[in-house]
Formats: sequence, C-alpha cells, structure tokens
Amino acid sequence: MCRPMLTLLVVGLSCGLHSVLAQDPCSSLDAGPYLATKPTLTMRVYEATQTELDQYPNSDKYKDELRLTGSIGGPAPAGITLEVMGNFQLFNPRDVFEFQTEAVTGKNLLKLVKAVDRDGPTDALDDDINMFSFTLKCSPASNTSIEVYYDVRIQIMDVNDNFPSFVGAPYSATVNELTPVGSTVLRVSAVDIDFPLTSNVTYSIVPAIVDDGSSMFAIDP
Ligand SMILES: *[C@@H]1O[C@H](CO)[C@@H](O)[C@H](O)[C@H]1NC(C)=O
Ligand SMILES: *[C@@H]1O[C@H](CO)[C@@H](O)[C@H](O)[C@H]1NC(C)=O
Repeated sequence: MCRPMLTLLVVGLSCGLHSVLAQDPCSSLDAGPYLATKPTLTMRVYEATQTELDQYPNSDKYKDELRLTGSIGGPAPAGITLEVMGNFQLFNPRDVFEFQTEAVTGKNLLKLVKAVDRDGPTDALDDDINMFSFTLKCSPASNTSIEVYYDVRIQIMDVNDNFPSFVGAPYSATVNELTPVGSTVLRVSAVDIDFPLTSNVTYSIVPAIVDDGSSMFAIDP
C-alpha cells in the first residue's frame, strides 16, 4: 500500500492519514495531500423557496456533486453510510440537505430539499446565510468500524429575489417658489436585502400621466 519512493516524507504522511485507498468506499475523488487536516469537500447550491423546490426538485441549481466514492445506503462492497456530525452552527444541515447516489450516473449528490433564504430577514449582513459548514462522517458498508471524516462547506448562492424598499417613506417636502434651481429639497434612501453585489439600488422619478410637476425635479440615480 505504501510504496517506497524517493519522497519518503510525503508518502509517510499520506499513508498515515489515509488507510483507505483511493478507489475504496468513502475516499475523496480529489487528490490531497491534506497534511494533518481533514479533506474539505466544497459544494454550492442556490437559495430557494419551498415553491421553487417543489416545482424544480431536480434543477442543477439545487444540487452539487459530493466527490466521494461509494454508493450511499448501498450494500458492501461499494456501499457507504454518511452522517452529519453535530458541529454545525445555527442551522441544522440535516433539515435542509440530503445526500443520495444518482442511479444513472452513480455520482453522489448533495441536494437542497428545504427552503433556504440566503438574505435573512433584514439588510444586515449578520443574518445572511452564506455557508453551511460541518463535519461529515463516512463509513464503508464493508467495515462499519472504519470512519472517514471530511470538512464540508456548502456555499449558498444568491438569487436577486428581493425588491428594494424605501426607508422612512412616505416622504414629503415643501418647496418655496423662490428656491434657487439646483437646491436639494429631499433626501431618500432605499435598501435591498440581497447579497451585496446584487443589492445595489438606483433611483428615478416616475412621472404621472397627468402633469404632476415631476418634470421640475431631478434625482441623482
Ligand atoms: C475493519 O476496520 C478496522 C479499523 O480499520 C480494522 O481494525 C478491522 O480489522 C477491519 N475489519 C475487517 C473485517 O476488515
Ligand atoms: C454595486 O456597487 C458596487 C459598489 O459601488 C460596485 O462595485 C459593483 O460593481 C456594483 N454591482 C453591480 C452589479 O452593479
């Protein structure tokens, strides 16, 4: 298993960490070395409402490949069992994700099965859900006393799904007829709770069909 090679240090480390061969159940499909840390499996899915998930349960937006060998829930020799460990923060990934082996391709998948709102209830960044991270334990069905651990990071991608809203509206201002042209008469402000890159807002005045005087005013977008 550990072939003697010139790079003895590297061989020694990888053999010490992984008693599981690359083709064995529960091994990572991606090469290390992982040097004294758990390998990291990185995945990404888009945020979704329950309606979207019900409508498009197999959309590529809501799944990603779990790059591990083995067949989830299957029998030995290829079968593996997966367990989400308890070191997650705030949101329990077991409520939100499922792991399954795709019958046709044999690929392992992570699927989003419950709604996740990346943006949180407010425009503050600290209620956003950008990432689920936890440890995943994998055991081969052929020998359930083998336990292989991975750090899992699931990035939640943003959908521009929120309308901006004005802060402090409705606004009103009184303008004296002698006010010089170019004077500022009102300041407005709006927020959008989407991810900062898609939450930029611009402003414009919407004229009414009847002349409402709006043509006498301009707004800085
Ligand atoms: C199962 O794995 C454990 C831990 O690596 C090992 O000690 C044991 O010999 C294995 N059992 C079999 C039947 O291969
Ligand atoms: C949003 O605004 C930021 C900061 O002004 C800018 O860097 C970014 O390119 C804007 N994004 C879009 C999508 O317009």
